[in-house]
Amino acid sequence: MSKIIGIINGSLRKNSFSGSIAEYVKNHAPEDFEFKLIDISGLPLYNQDYDGADPEAYTVFRNEIQALDGFLFITPEHNRSIPAALKNALDVASRPYGKNVWSGKPAAIISQSPGGIGGFGANHHLRQVLAFLNVLTLAQPEAYIGAYHTLIDETGALSNAGTKEFIDSFLSAFATWVEKNS
Ligand SMILES: Cc1cc2nc3c(=O)[nH]c(=O)nc-3n(C[C@H](O)[C@H](O)[C@H](O)COP(=O)(O)O)c2cc1C
Repeated sequence: MSKIIGIINGSLRKNSFSGSIAEYVKNHAPEDFEFKLIDISGLPLYNQDYDGADPEAYTVFRNEIQALDGFLFITPEHNRSIPAALKNALDVASRPYGKNVWSGKPAAIISQSPGGIGGFGANHHLRQVLAFLNVLTLAQPEAYIGAYHTLIDETGALSNAGTKEFIDSFLSAFATWVEKNS
């Protein structure tokens, strides 16, 4: 049976660069893997007062996360950290206390930016949160994709051959990581 990996895009932007990478990944899954886009855009901002009276969107999202075999986070950097929407999604599925549905599952991170350091700050802030949530995050290889705007065609699709090759090899390492940690 295929392993189902949820792609969590840290960007809510229409025509997002992270979404462009997600599209490429979805269409280049390693054998016996399927990548599924997980929507985080409709989650109300987490507030502990919701615990026990959860919005329907929280329940749907937590069940969705629980059913996955692993996670691939693809994210831009916002002010040297992760976008607020991504932090919100991480918080929502980590609660109520004791019911963290991220826990124990394998994950990997791809960060991207138009700048030269490829979202390094976001990538490492995300690693810190995932460590606390008991997510098994792939350490090597790392994926920081810089100058993403130069790697796409006029439709926004990833077109740079070297980057495609890099993502393919990254996905292959991630697939091995998921098999080992399932
Ligand atoms: C609020 C905000 C803060 C940003 N801060 C950074 C930053 O710290 N470092 C960086 O490289 N890019 C920064 N950017 C640029 C985005 O990371 C960049 O536009 C990214 O590639 C967009 O990805 P997306 O298309 O998936 O949303 C910022 C953008 C926004 C909107």
